[in-house]
Amino acid sequence: MKKYFVIGNPIDHSLSPKLHNYWIKKNNLDAFYEKIKLEENDLQKFTSDIKQKKIAGANITVPFKKAIIPYLDKLTSEAKKTQSVNTIILDNEKLLGCNTDIFGFESAIKNLNYDILNKKIFILGAGGVVPSIIFALNKMKVSEITICNRTRQKAENLKYQFNNLKIVDWGEIPDFDLIINATSLGLNNEEINLNFSGIGRNKLFYDVIYNPIETYFLKEGKKLGNQSENGKLMFLYQALEAFNLWHGIKPEIDNKIIKLLDNG
Ligand code: ATR
Repeated sequence: MKKYFVIGNPIDHSLSPKLHNYWIKKNNLDAFYEKIKLEENDLQKFTSDIKQKKIAGANITVPFKKAIIPYLDKLTSEAKKTQSVNTIILDNEKLLGCNTDIFGFESAIKNLNYDILNKKIFILGAGGVVPSIIFALNKMKVSEITICNRTRQKAENLKYQFNNLKIVDWGEIPDFDLIINATSLGLNNEEINLNFSGIGRNKLFYDVIYNPIETYFLKEGKKLGNQSENGKLMFLYQALEAFNLWHGIKPEIDNKIIKLLDNG
């Protein structure tokens, strides 16, 4: 039986095992998927277990998406550009770091039938997932990307990777079509201390968070007459692509799996 893991710290909240084990069962695969909490100094042993085929593959989540890179042999071009790995496969005896968050975000936006071409994007936050979102947005040819982060320097640092970014101070709201909450604000139902009253209508409020289903940020956007969408499809599609990389199968996103995630 092949073993797959998602590693992170904390990891309790992860719904990846539920999702992957559902698809494993549905496709009659001889495999199982579990979550494990690791410390940074466990990464070497963990990756060597993959190389020795004790573990068949892994997902990597916060805070190890960058920290895992020195232990890998190769990166896909997307993982290299974003310096972010969320999936490891063994490819010709080499550990290959992949990034399926980009595919996840792009697929989620496509699924919404939202015409993103030439749109102005405003991103809140500069944490681990943001390089993947910027990569996907550039791929989809948005017109401009503005970022604000509580710690401004972290947003400024993203300019080394992506030179087309505008940075504003936390609290400033520029003109935008699509706003993305990529902060952790809302995970515990926190309010977001930004004033959206002057933004106008017909905006899309997108939250990377999917649990809770509707954050304060999304409620606020809706209240002001805008479209809102949580990060559930992004999560599902990044998992779908990882599943495909490991098993060569594109699993189905059916109603049952969507319900499974809604129930946490
Ligand atoms: P990391 O920063 O370690 O990559 P993350 O969960 O990927 O962790 O990112 C958390 C994001 O939420 C960061 O952008 C963080 O802002 P800072 O860089 O200033 O820490 C943001 N965030 C967390 N709590 C916040 C708060 N109370 N107000 C505003 N932004 C917050």
